[in-house]
Amino acid sequence: MKQSPILFSLFGSTAITKAIHAELGFDIGAITLHQFPDNETVIKIDSLVHDREVVFIANLEQPNSKLLPLLFAAETARDLGASKIGLIVPYLPYMRQDKRFHSGESITSKYFATLISNYFDGLLTIDPHLHRWHSLSDIYSIPAKAVHATESISSWIKKNVPYPVLIGPDAESSQWVSEIARTINAPFLILEKVRKGDNLVETSIPDVALYQNHTPILVDDIISTAATMIETVIHLSTLKMKAPVCIGVHALFSGNAYGDLLKAGAEQIVTCNTIVHPSNGIDMSNLISKSINTLFHA
Ligand code: R5P
Repeated sequence: MKQSPILFSLFGSTAITKAIHAELGFDIGAITLHQFPDNETVIKIDSLVHDREVVFIANLEQPNSKLLPLLFAAETARDLGASKIGLIVPYLPYMRQDKRFHSGESITSKYFATLISNYFDGLLTIDPHLHRWHSLSDIYSIPAKAVHATESISSWIKKNVPYPVLIGPDAESSQWVSEIARTINAPFLILEKVRKGDNLVETSIPDVALYQNHTPILVDDIISTAATMIETVIHLSTLKMKAPVCIGVHALFSGNAYGDLLKAGAEQIVTCNTIVHPSNGIDMSNLISKSINTLFHA
């Protein structure tokens, strides 16, 4: 009988790896990354991987310093005879640079995808930022599967917020917001966003008169500087709406973004645990376990 894949946790993905192990019984392998004084890295895999499918589960938030060790880990497993090498990244970085916004710029989403496709045989991720790319297969040449947090977010809202109105801060968010609103049978509004710089965002005034007694729920895939959410929260308060609940799939929260969003007037901030953060309130490990068998055949 074919052995089940062996899981390796990288860059602090232990909780999700252990949850998958508990759910499916897959072995967890031993791997160490040693950093030499000159910052070069050596990988050591202490479990037998010969003829086995290997799955790395990696937290790739702040990806640059992790990328080379990640590729070395894949190459080590291949060298040691792994039959297939999969990558589960609950948060897939580099998806937002999906066009040349200014002349001479790189399209890093494409280059990153090429790099990963060269080292892995399958990719599984949660709600990648698909905006100008319509599907991961536009840029990934390996089976690459995206699963969605919408069902889990919908259940959380149903359990925790009695009278919600869903609000998407920009057109891209409409894919999640409309789906969640449909699932929980709640109204929704999509705002228009103009980004004026890395930390500066302006949103349009929505027609909110009908929803003064509802609890606004802002939903976005990524909260990074939180400028998008902060602008929307401030806007809603000038319109005399209730303080909103802010839900993000990926809790990047650069610098003081989390505190700044609370200070701006968010009633509560809840995120999915694709990136470990104190705001994590919606668990994704079950979703990953359910989809892991599609890893090499998405
Ligand atoms: C971009 O369009 C994304 O969907 C998010 O709206 C964006 O990444 C949020 O970034 P920030 O928190 O920096 O405003």
